[in-house]
Amino acid sequence: MIKVEPLAFETNYDYLVRDLATGTLGVVDLADGAELTQRFKAQGQTPDFLFLTHHHHDHVEGLEDFLAAFPQVQVVKPLGETRISVPALEMGPTDSLLFGRTSVQALLTHAHTKHCAAYLFDQTHLFVGDALFRAGCGRLFEGDGPSLEAAMDRFGSLPPQTLLYFGHEYGLANLKFAATLEPLNQAIGLAQWELQACLEQGIPGAPVSLGQELRVNPFLRLDLPGLQQHLNPLGTIPRSEQFLLLRRQRDKF
Ligand SMILES: [Fe+2]
Repeated sequence: MIKVEPLAFETNYDYLVRDLATGTLGVVDLADGAELTQRFKAQGQTPDFLFLTHHHHDHVEGLEDFLAAFPQVQVVKPLGETRISVPALEMGPTDSLLFGRTSVQALLTHAHTKHCAAYLFDQTHLFVGDALFRAGCGRLFEGDGPSLEAAMDRFGSLPPQTLLYFGHEYGLANLKFAATLEPLNQAIGLAQWELQACLEQGIPGAPVSLGQELRVNPFLRLDLPGLQQHLNPLGTIPRSEQFLLLRRQRDKF
């Protein structure tokens, strides 16, 4: 069993993860390595693991200095990601590791960047980085329609009770976009109201369950009639191109 503490850095989220049975301490992503180093030193804590979801600078910020401060940290990165150049354990879709007494597996997607890992702790807690967001997904920097389709189908097929921890807080803008696509979907309005209330009180917008996401996230609802009417009114556009179209519409929103 784990305990998770989200740490907000402007729009980024890092997460502190603790295995309750053993006290093993992990960090998911580094939005600000210097600040995290200070925090750990001030609290007399020593992280054991650093899980990196992808190579973007706002997820590996201050990595070398962080590792200089905590040389015992085991870095974990997506299989095949050479742009994270520090010594690291690579995790692919068939790998698993023990974090204290908690099992960790990696889901690899190839849409936001060519190598994104989402780390699944205890079959329940999924740290998705920028592959999926509240009511949206990450920009397609390196992937294409088929890779976005594969990523969304992978996430969408997980058990609905899976808890999602996003790499950024873009929920309000994403929900606003989602509302333009499905103006009659009351779950979107409710999610906007709830998220706004949380953020105003300084409460992080993550985690949310996959079940909640399936009610509002257009990238997970693409096959439903409301979205099909919008993206594919004549029924002629291949499904992977519909994902691309939806992502491009969000880019311009
Ligand atoms: Fe990113």
